[in-house]
Amino acid sequence: MREKIIAIHSSRGGTGKTTIAVNLALTYAHEGLNIALLDLDFRAPSLFGVFSEGIKKPVKCWLNDFMLDRCEIGQVLIDVSDKYSLDGKLLIGLANPTIEAIRNMMGRSRAWEVAAAKKLFSVRTSIFNEMHMDCCIFDTSPGIQYSSINGVVSSDVTVIVTTLDSLDIEGVKNMLVEFYDEFEKKSVILMNKVFPQTRMWSDNERNELITKMQRVFKRPIIGVIPCYCDVLEANRDSPLIAENPSHPFLKDLQEVGKKLENI
Ligand SMILES: Nc1ncnc2c1ncn2[C@@H]1O[C@H](COP(=O)(O)OP(=O)(O)OP(=O)(O)O)[C@@H](O)[C@H]1O
Ligand SMILES: [Mg+2]
Repeated sequence: MREKIIAIHSSRGGTGKTTIAVNLALTYAHEGLNIALLDLDFRAPSLFGVFSEGIKKPVKCWLNDFMLDRCEIGQVLIDVSDKYSLDGKLLIGLANPTIEAIRNMMGRSRAWEVAAAKKLFSVRTSIFNEMHMDCCIFDTSPGIQYSSINGVVSSDVTVIVTTLDSLDIEGVKNMLVEFYDEFEKKSVILMNKVFPQTRMWSDNERNELITKMQRVFKRPIIGVIPCYCDVLEANRDSPLIAENPSHPFLKDLQEVGKKLENI
C-alpha cells in the first residue's frame, strides 16, 4: 500500500469505529506495513485507554497540542511496535482524555476548526515524506461536526461504519447526501455488528444483503462483520488482537484491509 489516509467514520456513536481502527492498524502492522493511527475523536478520546498499558506516562505531547500549534506531529507519535511484536511499525497519536482538554477542544470557534483542517492536511507530508509510513488511519468522532469532518476531508478514503439499526442506516443515508456527495469524497460502507447468524450464512445470502445495502447507500459495501459476543465483552483496555490473534473478527478485518489497499 502506498501512502493512503483512511478515515473511520460513522453517523451515530458506538458502531465500532475505534475497535475497527485499532485492529485494522494492528492487522496491517502485523503484515509488515508501517502505520500511523491517530485519535481524532477529541470529544471522546479512546486510544489512550486502549494503548495505556503499552506506553510511557505521562504523555508529553497530545494530538491536541499539535492541533493547537504547541508541538510537531513527530513529538506526538508514540511507537508501540515492540509491545505487540509487529513486523511493521505502529505509531499512535493520542487525544487528551482529560475533561479539561475535551472542554478546550469543544469550545473552539468555527474559524479555528477551519484552520485546523490545514493542520491535518500537513500531517500527510510529515507522515509519508518524512516518516515513511505506508498508511495513516484516523479514528474520528461520529456525525458531521467539524472535528470529524476535518478528518474525513483530509483522508483519501473514508470507511463509514454502520450497523443494521434503522437509525444508523437513516443517519448514514442523510450524511452521504448532505455531506459526502457535496465533497465528492471516496467512501465505502462497512456493516458491523450485523446479526450473529450471518456467520452461518451462505455466500448467496451474504451477497443478497450486500446488494440490498449497496442499493440503499449507493456506495460499495466493503465488508459485513457479525456481532461477536466476545468482542462486545472484550477488555476495553487492550486491543483484541493482542489477546486473541486468531479471532474471526480479525480475519474479517484482514479481508476489509485487503480491499482497502486496492481502493
Ligand atoms: N463486530 C462486533 N461485535 C461485537 N461487538 C463489537 C463489534 N464491533 C465493536 N463492538 C463493540 O461495540 C462497542 C462500541 O465500539 P467502539 O467503541 O469501537 O465504537 P465507536 O464507534 O468507536 O464508538 P464512539 O462513537 O463512542 O467513538 C464496544 O464495546 C466494542 O467492543
Ligand atoms: Mg470511538
